[in-house]
Amino acid sequence: METTPHVPTTTAAGHPEDDAAGADAPLAWADDRVLPAREATVPLTDEGFLRGDAIFEAVLVRHGRTHALEPHLARLHRSAAALDLVVDDSAVRRAIAELLAAWGERDGAVRVILTRGGALRGLIGTAEWPPSISLGVVEAPWRTAISGVKTLSYAANQWAVRQARALGADDAVIVDAGIVHELPTGAVVLIRDGACSTPDPGRLPILDSVTVAALREVAEVALVQPSLDDLLGADEVVVLSATRPGLPVHAIHLPDGRRRDLPAPGPVTHQLRTALDEHIAGTLDEPPAPDRSAPAAR
Ligand SMILES: Cc1ncc(COP(=O)(O)O)c(C=O)c1O
Repeated sequence: METTPHVPTTTAAGHPEDDAAGADAPLAWADDRVLPAREATVPLTDEGFLRGDAIFEAVLVRHGRTHALEPHLARLHRSAAALDLVVDDSAVRRAIAELLAAWGERDGAVRVILTRGGALRGLIGTAEWPPSISLGVVEAPWRTAISGVKTLSYAANQWAVRQARALGADDAVIVDAGIVHELPTGAVVLIRDGACSTPDPGRLPILDSVTVAALREVAEVALVQPSLDDLLGADEVVVLSATRPGLPVHAIHLPDGRRRDLPAPGPVTHQLRTALDEHIAGTLDEPPAPDRSAPAAR
């Protein structure tokens, strides 16, 4: 499926649905009910707000149904374990179910956010991206004690996007000590001589992408530690995330001002995207049944 050409106007690596208005305005789940996102709040004193001490997940929604909800929730539980947070699984599922019910049979993305202060929040909105993007190489020391955990502390990621934009690119590709890691909000797949590879979350401090796992169910994708030269030598580059399952890269910008143009989509990217789209369409989750018996969440 082609994404609707639409250039997001929001913050670096932001969420385009933030700008949507009218029928496409995002909805939130807060204090046990669905409401317009602009009316939802979190307590000022919540450490999730004060210190970014919180976790989240973002899940693709097609025709009102999630894709790969269970792997996303499994990762939410892993993130919670890494930060000593407790997930109320039934409240999370209820938030998602109620947001999906309110959203109807539309495409988009649904997020759940769980803070140190115990606030559970949900958000659903549209997720449209341009037909292709350019990436700026941003050298950054990427490892922290919680690298690879999907926390709300994305200020460093947002910093990387701004660095990339200063190079003239749309988004960043993080390179640490000459090794390509990931995008601030996505995974990267390199294609060379028809072979696909992606940075290995088992050996690098990056997020273990659910979308890469889905792609690996339909295509051979080697898990590697790609060098910057591998990136620059790629015939095609494609970005993957739950909300961008197969976004072609049309150029790589280097810090020294050089720029490498790429076909977008190239022939292999086109094949990958077709296979992934068919896989997603064939494995959408059953609509969850809202469970009103669960205790109310804050
Ligand atoms: C830092 C980072 N890497 C990779 C990804 C891709 O993960 P997924 O495919 O599970 O969305 C994301 C998604 O938001 C991310 O934030």
